Amino acid sequence: MNIFKLCQTCSGTVLRRCIQTSSTRHVELTSVRYPDVKRGNYGSVRDSDLATFERLLPGRVLTDSLDGYNTDWLKTCRGASQVVLRPKSTEEVSAILKYCNEKKLAVVPQGGNTGLVGGSVSVFDEIVISTQLMNNIISLDEISGTLVCQAGCVLASLEDYLSNHKLTIPVDLGAKGSCHIGGNVATNAGGVRLLRYGSLHGNVLGLEAVLANGEVVDCLSTLRKDNTGYDLKQLFIGSEGTLGIITAVSLNCPQKPEAVSVAFLGCESFQSVLDIFKESRQKLGEVLSAFEFMDSQTMTVAKENLKLRSPIEDYPFYVLIETSGSNGSHDEEKLSQFLEHVMGTGIVQDGTVATEPTKIQNIWSMRERIAEGLMHDGYCYKYDVSLPLQSFYGLVEAMRERMGTMVTRVIGYGHVGDGNLHLNLTSPEYSTEVMDKIEPFLYDWVANHKGSISAEHGLGFKKKNFIYHSKSKSAVRLMKDIKHTFDPNMILNPYKVLPDF
Ligand code: FAD
Ligand code: MLT
Ligand code: ZN
Repeated sequence: MNIFKLCQTCSGTVLRRCIQTSSTRHVELTSVRYPDVKRGNYGSVRDSDLATFERLLPGRVLTDSLDGYNTDWLKTCRGASQVVLRPKSTEEVSAILKYCNEKKLAVVPQGGNTGLVGGSVSVFDEIVISTQLMNNIISLDEISGTLVCQAGCVLASLEDYLSNHKLTIPVDLGAKGSCHIGGNVATNAGGVRLLRYGSLHGNVLGLEAVLANGEVVDCLSTLRKDNTGYDLKQLFIGSEGTLGIITAVSLNCPQKPEAVSVAFLGCESFQSVLDIFKESRQKLGEVLSAFEFMDSQTMTVAKENLKLRSPIEDYPFYVLIETSGSNGSHDEEKLSQFLEHVMGTGIVQDGTVATEPTKIQNIWSMRERIAEGLMHDGYCYKYDVSLPLQSFYGLVEAMRERMGTMVTRVIGYGHVGDGNLHLNLTSPEYSTEVMDKIEPFLYDWVANHKGSISAEHGLGFKKKNFIYHSKSKSAVRLMKDIKHTFDPNMILNPYKVLPDF
């Protein structure tokens, strides 16, 4: 059954607010901005190739108005693809890849194009294979809560569909109105529910993927337990389109919580944020479903760039706590006892609680729309790191001191409950001077503090050469061996994830 419609802004499939920014700002070609990256020895698309594609996908081969497919969401990378293919089925993906592999034509898989590391657009002229039209629900087992669907289903659409069956999707993020479930799995997206439901490595029960040579790998199990041999699906989760094109997924979907409450709190220091986290784990226990933080500079983005109104006075730090459970009065009682405690001990200065859906949504918007708000400044240098909590905010302070007035702002927010900091810097336009001041300093800092240079966005094009900051030589060598086995001609998403050297 197909429950989706096309978005008028990005021509993607969407049900809720589309999050694609409609900036007309000129985006430099990636091949110009990064002149050291050389085009691989791939074929170029000829008229005869276009004729074959048209035969395989009648009316679904695009060659005009490709800007939206060539430019990433952040407006920081621009490829020069001349053709976009829009298959509807696994068989069509298989036929396209088999042909591209024989002709040595490089491809880039694309879902909702909301990725933040330049992985979803071409670097040169790779063919875009879009999952926009692969948006069918295949089955739902309401007893076990198992959903099987095609990879191009928009996340918010799945949430809406499941909600009608009293179920929910175990991953939620600000890009839900545009990102595809296949893209979520391909990036191993984290988001705001990871604290409650865990990562997609645990929630994906099975998947189907097409290898570079067109072979379909059927691991679309719906079983919770299956210990027969290597768990191959895990290799595709987080592979960012370099090992195969995910065409369908099977997901474990929890019961939709009956009651949700959100508290938005203000406090004086980052130490207080950590103290509140500790207290919330102890006092809210099983009903705690999200724990996010923002600093005051992040709040300035919400207020000035997005024209949002904070529900509380100004503080150096803010915490968003969500509880979800099956008994509203029980959860609310727990939350109010917790709030009484943290306000009584002075770790929280001020706060507001929402239980009504519109108010809850307004509070979540303050947090989820920050990425969009930053785009108003011009260019955004986006970092997404994991750090032990004791050194978590130190990175923001170190970068502020280092950058001084070279940048418009340095802000810190993120999924503190998962040890995941979003550090963002902005300037009116891209500057190599600013970039050279940030990198590799920032990655060295993260490695020295035993963190990871990517908590959830992945490596894509922009971060691949820093992989050694987080992975050993032997691990990267094994990754390269796996890549060669899955894609010997290296046609799948070249120039991404694995380092040049
Ligand atoms: P795309 O951007 O189209 O692609 C991303 C990567 O996956 C590319 O390398 C692409 O080649 C590959 N790919 C896409 N589809 C497939 C497929 N079917 N098979 C194989 N490879 C494929 N990320 C988080 O982790 N947590 C967040 O909280 C979060 N919040 C965000 C908020 C906003 C406002 C935005 C713009 C982005 C956010 N992201 C977040 C990043 C992004 O949304 C996620 O990475 C998302 O999962 C990407 O899905 P997509 O369909 O847009 O994939
Ligand atoms: C978020 O949590 O808001 C996203 O990962 C996007 C971002 O890092 O800005
Ligand atoms: Zn995030």
